[in-house]
Amino acid sequence: MSSSTSPTVLLNTGVQMPILGLGTYKLVGPENVYQAVDAALAAGYRSFDSAAVYRNEADLGRALKELLPKHGLTREDVFITSKLGPKHQGQGSMEAALHSLSQLDLGYIDLYLIHWPGTQGLQVSDQRNPGNRAKSWASLEELHAQGKLKAIGVSNYKLTHMKELMQSCKIPPALLQVEFHPQLCQTELRSVCKEYGVCFQAYSSLGRGELLSHPVVLEVAKNCDRTPAQVLLRWAVQQGVPVLPKSSNPDRIQRNTELFDFSLSDADMDKLSALDCGLRYCWDPSDVA
Ligand code: A2P
Repeated sequence: MSSSTSPTVLLNTGVQMPILGLGTYKLVGPENVYQAVDAALAAGYRSFDSAAVYRNEADLGRALKELLPKHGLTREDVFITSKLGPKHQGQGSMEAALHSLSQLDLGYIDLYLIHWPGTQGLQVSDQRNPGNRAKSWASLEELHAQGKLKAIGVSNYKLTHMKELMQSCKIPPALLQVEFHPQLCQTELRSVCKEYGVCFQAYSSLGRGELLSHPVVLEVAKNCDRTPAQVLLRWAVQQGVPVLPKSSNPDRIQRNTELFDFSLSDADMDKLSALDCGLRYCWDPSDVA
């Protein structure tokens, strides 16, 4: 994959976002971040997904500032996502988003998401959660108007959170990022996003690595002579869903880009989609009021 051929999706802000980005959850420490970003830029990644809670915003920003010139790239060639931590939902949201901006220190953030519908320290059922979310969204809208956050969106929102946001927002979310893989097809959320013009993005496409050894994934991988990771990522991008595989291994970082020179047959797509059973490998936001 090269930067000129890297496929993109159009956000409702009019900006093109790469369909493939590097996830950075659990990528910590300046050297690990530097090595992964170097390998990713060499492999053609132009999108990087961070978050305040990953504690790697500063290392990611520093690595990019050093590495972009080495790869003949500028700030405008990359798409950087970060997220507001649940600890700062509500009252502290403006300050926390400004902190993300200063940690990354890349001038602006391409996409900034509310990471979680709840607030750290409150019960999931606490009726202050909706008000806190609304306050956070207002902070993001303000920073978007100032040009500091080029696009704003949400992560881990369920259907009711999305409906509530669409009814109350001044600026609609550009994107919803949720767990998505063959065992969690998120059919309802995907169709609501489509209806609202919100980009639906996957995280944990590999099921935290667990899905890589699923017998059906292995069978499809064997059929098409691809790796299980490529099959799982291709299953998503073939449906137009952007993906964010995380790897700290340069070889896997490279192999996870090889998604656009093959396609899965309808039969293989159906076989994978038939695994849908609502299984989550990550956090479940279902009970957040
Ligand atoms: P590693 O960083 O050692 O490569 P998810 O994106 O679903 O959260 O999955 C991420 C996990 O999958 C990480 O543990 C990562 O480990 C592993 N992983 C990423 N790409 C591959 C690959 N191509 N083959 C095997 N494991 C992978």
